[in-house]
Amino acid sequence: MGTSNAAQLEELEQEDLLTPTGLRRDGVVEISRALRELLADVFGLYLKTKNFHWHMSGGQFRDYHLLLDEHAEQVFAMTDDIAERARKIGGTTLRSISDISRHQSLKDNNEEFVAPRDMLAELCADDQQLTRSLRSVHEVCERYSDVASTSLIETWIDQSERRQWFLSEIVR
Ligand SMILES: [Fe+2]
Repeated sequence: MGTSNAAQLEELEQEDLLTPTGLRRDGVVEISRALRELLADVFGLYLKTKNFHWHMSGGQFRDYHLLLDEHAEQVFAMTDDIAERARKIGGTTLRSISDISRHQSLKDNNEEFVAPRDMLAELCADDQQLTRSLRSVHEVCERYSDVASTSLIETWIDQSERRQWFLSEIVR
């Protein structure tokens, strides 16, 4: 059995956590899987943004430190909504830090020192990758008419593009 079939079976076995929904069962499985991967990336981006907020250095310290805190707060605010969308439709979501690292595709940065400009450029690239993921999760949700998820995702794309705008102007 392939990984995706195994994951699907695991999802289908969570009968005790089912919630009444008008969505198709295969839609619930596919959407909650997409939301789980998205949530892992959002937690990864949140912690990286805080990491860079904490380890910022140099002449623009105050500006960058504060900007990254704003960004981190915005990214963190997505997490509960993503997880609760999965639960509202009867799916399940992440349960631990190890669960996050199993599902995330955005790369962590564990370097001892990162130059301020490199931090901002990396976050900008991560936001670009996040926007692409958001668009692909949007497609999955749209396929099953999960309009509540697509509506949230549209707002998150706008926020991610705003973060990219600020970051890209600084590193230009
Ligand atoms: Fe802080």
